[in-house]
Amino acid sequence: MGNTLAVMGSTGSIGTQTLEVVEAAAGRYEVTALGAGRSVETLAAQARAVRPKVVALADAPSAPRLARLLPPGTELIAGPDALAEAAVTADVAVNGVVGFAGLPVTLAVLEAGRRLALANKESLIAAGPLVARALATPGAEIVPVDSEHCAVHQCLRSNDTLGNPDRLGQVARILLTASGGPFRERSPAELASVSPAEALAHPTWNMGPKITVDSSTLMNKGLEVIEAHELFGVDYDRIDVVVHPQSVVHSMVEFVDGATMAQLSLPDMRLCIGYAVGYPDRLDCAYGRIDWASLRRLEFESPRPDVFACLPLAYEAGRRGETAPAVLSAANEVAVEAFLEGAISWPSIAEVIDGVLQGDPVRRADSLEAVLEADREARRAAASLVASRAAAA
Ligand SMILES: NC(=O)c1ccc[n+]([C@@H]2O[C@H](COP(=O)([O-])OP(=O)(O)OC[C@H]3O[C@@H](n4cnc5c(N)ncnc54)[C@H](OP(=O)(O)O)[C@@H]3O)[C@@H](O)[C@H]2O)c1
Repeated sequence: MGNTLAVMGSTGSIGTQTLEVVEAAAGRYEVTALGAGRSVETLAAQARAVRPKVVALADAPSAPRLARLLPPGTELIAGPDALAEAAVTADVAVNGVVGFAGLPVTLAVLEAGRRLALANKESLIAAGPLVARALATPGAEIVPVDSEHCAVHQCLRSNDTLGNPDRLGQVARILLTASGGPFRERSPAELASVSPAEALAHPTWNMGPKITVDSSTLMNKGLEVIEAHELFGVDYDRIDVVVHPQSVVHSMVEFVDGATMAQLSLPDMRLCIGYAVGYPDRLDCAYGRIDWASLRRLEFESPRPDVFACLPLAYEAGRRGETAPAVLSAANEVAVEAFLEGAISWPSIAEVIDGVLQGDPVRRADSLEAVLEADREARRAAASLVASRAAAA
């Protein structure tokens, strides 16, 4: 594996942690491309620090302002396709873009036959069939960054199951662990009045706002169930979710002989980013080590169905397949944004998504246009449900 890196979504939580991993790996990697949505000042500061060959900005109107702040020798490309263009200029691309906007980066990297260190879960969820097609390109490879899939990747690797479909039958089930977020012990009545600030206070992980809210509803886990199905080819009946508040076991794989492999570490995304970038090697830099003497207990429980209504919706969309996961993800983005703006309550996030899913005819996800159309329609439907709820409140 070569040593040049493109970091897309560089100004976000995954992006900035990727730059920290690169710095800690002291000269092993060279960041040759950076990309973000519209955070001009942060992107410019990053460019001055790492001196990439190219910087991509999705928001074209902000490009002239960014151009004035970039160091000499760094090329600027801007517009909706800019990140996909920049992502294929390096050996490995980290996709840390948030939301559906990450899909073109995923497709471009795989179609170019490169390694994709994939954090952007929405692209895989929204367009699983398209990503699978792109992944067939010689040289194309996905190594997941998401901590649960990174853990599953490591567990499957232990049984020589990765890239070895004959061994997939030896997987009895994948167990994705969930911290349960801040609300797992609240009553349904209490949940009706939780604020965005409470939802943003995640007990163990420090993440961007959208994914932190997804974590509080377990939609994050639901999306990961779909992601696991797409990444590892395991059917939905063999993917379970278990709440594990300590966030030390990052996921597990149970094999047909009853043996269960688990990956444990302190919760730090930099380990996962380093794993995805360095695979099959491990980077010689630990972000904390487990103190076994003080760990004492690891707890596990089933997710409460009265709290986590988003989880069964994700299974339903995953089983329906085709454009249904895209519809689920788009409706979720709209509902989460509305919740963060104070327009709808926390329980209404699931209600809005349910309303959109039930009204949506499943269409074939056989082209980017079909997925985009499903995404647009789901957003329209979700916005209308949000507006009617906000008006009624
Ligand atoms: N954070 C985590 O610990 C974590 C863990 C697992 C998986 N993930 C997944 O990783 C992805 C990124 O999460 P995050 O927490 O890092 O999000 P974040 O902190 O919100 O950062 C998002 C990044 O995407 C960029 N972006 C936003 N809209 C864009 C657009 N239209 N075009 C191009 N770039 C755009 C942002 O640029 P601007 O700053 O310019 O807006 C920023 O660089 C998500 O899919 C998330 O589910 C994150």
